[in-house]
Amino acid sequence: MEKFESRKKRNLDTQQERAAWMNEHDKNEGGKPAVGKLIVDGLEIELPLVVGTEGERGLDISKLRAETGLVTLDPGYVNTGSTTSAITYLNGEQGKLFYRGYAIERLAAECDFVEVAYLLIYGELPDAETLEHFRLTLRRHTLLHEDMRLFYDGFPFDAHPMATLSSAVGALSTFYQDALNPADKEQVDLTIIRLLAKLPTIAAYAHKKSVGHPYIYPSNELSYCENFLRMMFALPTEPYEIDPDFVNALNLLLIVHADHEQNCSTSTVRMVGSSDSNLFASISAGISALWGPLHGGANEACVSMLEMIMADGGNVKKYVDMAKDKDNNFRLMGFGHRVYKNFDPRAKIIEGACKKILQKQNTNDPVFDIAQQLEEVALKDEYFIERKLYPNVDFYSGVIYRALGIPMPMFTAMFAIGRLPGWIAHWREMHASPKKRIARPRQIYVGATQREFVPLEDR
Ligand code: SDX
Repeated sequence: MEKFESRKKRNLDTQQERAAWMNEHDKNEGGKPAVGKLIVDGLEIELPLVVGTEGERGLDISKLRAETGLVTLDPGYVNTGSTTSAITYLNGEQGKLFYRGYAIERLAAECDFVEVAYLLIYGELPDAETLEHFRLTLRRHTLLHEDMRLFYDGFPFDAHPMATLSSAVGALSTFYQDALNPADKEQVDLTIIRLLAKLPTIAAYAHKKSVGHPYIYPSNELSYCENFLRMMFALPTEPYEIDPDFVNALNLLLIVHADHEQNCSTSTVRMVGSSDSNLFASISAGISALWGPLHGGANEACVSMLEMIMADGGNVKKYVDMAKDKDNNFRLMGFGHRVYKNFDPRAKIIEGACKKILQKQNTNDPVFDIAQQLEEVALKDEYFIERKLYPNVDFYSGVIYRALGIPMPMFTAMFAIGRLPGWIAHWREMHASPKKRIARPRQIYVGATQREFVPLEDR
């Protein structure tokens, strides 16, 4: 079989060509499908090769323990695939991202978020009638049960919105006990609508609670993003004018955040869902995983870092050097990625939208200037080049949220609203899989071997 390195250089343009090449070349001497071989203690076993439609290849080790007694060890799952999936493909080396086969750049330019949410969840771009029905159905489910408002009375005003979102989404399962069965398609479809429709309301109410303003009820006359902006910024004392540029920017932001294959929070949703926990509980867990500053929380951490650099005289080189210093656990937030070893295409799209909004507002945000300077310095630095560390989705997203007037504690909540359709799509795909099993990783025990118990009086 041709060496992997030379295969990577092969430019096979279409899926069909790649698949044909794989089928042609991924065979062993006897013409059978290619396999990997593992030799342990003189025992040789064959591991089937799984080849994806984009030519990715993996070793299927599902029979490894049964045949050898061995398990694999891979902290952080850097080399381990948890599933096959038909939802999102990202090519980290080339910096490309596709939802259900459509390039993110095209979807961001041509669609709105509700259309992309439908594509991710149900697998196809909807026709006009289907999309209109989906939109109108969502609009009719944006209200929260009035008792849900009591939750907000209980939270402190400075509660982090991600704590509020995770709690409120989990609590939705108590108000909608009629639709919790993961095996009932109608119940799942109704829960999907409720979640997509209500998460913006839950998030906007969290913001209103934090500023002591009255909650603004959703309006069925408005689109998804118009509704969210109005619930966030309108006051009952005066008319609120919706800025179409803000609506366009918000649609684009939500689209580029909508899915990203088996990232930490999506894997969490799959893990929790694999025990047949209901969809509300699974999404609540995903929100908690996204909160971490190494994941979705990086957008908030990135703007805090940029503001710190600005307050420190804008000396970006000082902070680039700090990030390189192994004795210093400082990292450039918004930089680096487990999969992208090239530009994150989403960062490029957001940077462009950022420039457009700031130009429209005829303002320049010094934090955006700092971000651009930081990017320029870092990308010329050997440490970042050698480790292939580029700006990721979180590097510019916080800056554009600022331009839209969204306060920093809400940044990761915005990521959650965007990522919701991706989480739902993966949860559905997992439940539809004939190979679905409860997720239960193995371990290698390195603790104390069996020892005699010592009674308290003798310790
Ligand atoms: C998201 O998985 C997804 O798809 C996530 C996401 C999605 O859409 O769901 O794309 C969203 O979470 C984007 C990432 C947001 N997080 C950040 O921006 C936080 C800062 N970045 C890192 O902490 C880091 O890059 C990660 C967490 C994103 C990736 O971590 P990895 O893959 O475990 O890489 P690593 O920590 O092993 O780093 C490899 C090397 C190390 O140096 P060496 O030990 O080899 O000398 O790169 C260095 C790291 O020290 N490094 C950084 C760095 N990121 C990695 N050094 C300085 N600054 C950074 N930001």
